[in-house]
Amino acid sequence: MATKPIVRVPSATYIVARSFPDNIIGVDNALPWHLRSDLQHFKSRTSGHVILMGRKTFESLGRPLPNRINIVLSRSEISDTENLIWAQDPETALLLADAHAICRGQREFFIIGGENVYKLFFQHVNEAWVTDVFCGNINGDAKFDVDFPSNEWRTRSEVEHPASEHDDWPFRISHYVRRKKLHRQRMREEFLKVDLDVLQHLDEWQEQYGQTQDSDKPDSAEQLSLPQ
Ligand SMILES: NC(=O)c1ccc[n+]([C@@H]2O[C@H](COP(=O)([O-])OP(=O)(O)OC[C@H]3O[C@@H](n4cnc5c(N)ncnc54)[C@H](OP(=O)(O)O)[C@@H]3O)[C@@H](O)[C@H]2O)c1
Repeated sequence: MATKPIVRVPSATYIVARSFPDNIIGVDNALPWHLRSDLQHFKSRTSGHVILMGRKTFESLGRPLPNRINIVLSRSEISDTENLIWAQDPETALLLADAHAICRGQREFFIIGGENVYKLFFQHVNEAWVTDVFCGNINGDAKFDVDFPSNEWRTRSEVEHPASEHDDWPFRISHYVRRKKLHRQRMREEFLKVDLDVLQHLDEWQEQYGQTQDSDKPDSAEQLSLPQ
């Protein structure tokens, strides 16, 4: 196959839980609630994938999440381990996320917070899994103030969850998809900066995900007006 110098790269997806109506996501570097069903949703969406987070969120987790490649953004070095990779700036974080997602044959990676990191990467995000927690007004020190206006984002699904013995509050999980997807591109040579065999996987990845214009394809769930 002829070598293409410019390639399309994976897409960034937010996954976040925030309070309704105040958009609070954290207090004292912890979540303000316990929602077991939402944690299960987070785990099932992100398992096997690349997740990108800020240093404070990493500290709040206390360890790299298993069965995921954990990319942690910090200006201070963090020692790499098997599934933990330090990124010293946002550009490096994106390059690492792209490279590791391509090596896994995946079209997306997840941005898992916190407030600073959500803000940093908004312009690269094509999909968002947003949990609105109906807990009323609460205090917090981290927010997710992003709107998903219907002229720019379609709602692919909305699922309501009641409060239960395992979930402190009722909540809704919405899946938003950007109507006009943003397609990032890179020069192939950029991947030489990362110590991976990504170039071996690139053509295969391009074949699977790099050709179609996702935003031009009909959204079958939306056409049927059914949640996925
Ligand atoms: N509800 C949810 O879904 C959810 C999800 C995730 C997190 N949270 C909550 O969010 C809160 C944490 O959010 P946060 O905004 O305070 O912190 P954060 O985004 O998790 O991490 C911020 C850190 O990222 C690093 N960073 C940010 N910009 C950088 C840049 N341009 N270059 C290099 N490094 C950079 C810095 O680390 P250094 O200081 O080490 O340089 C910075 O202190 C916690 O309360 C957590 O529980 C909630």
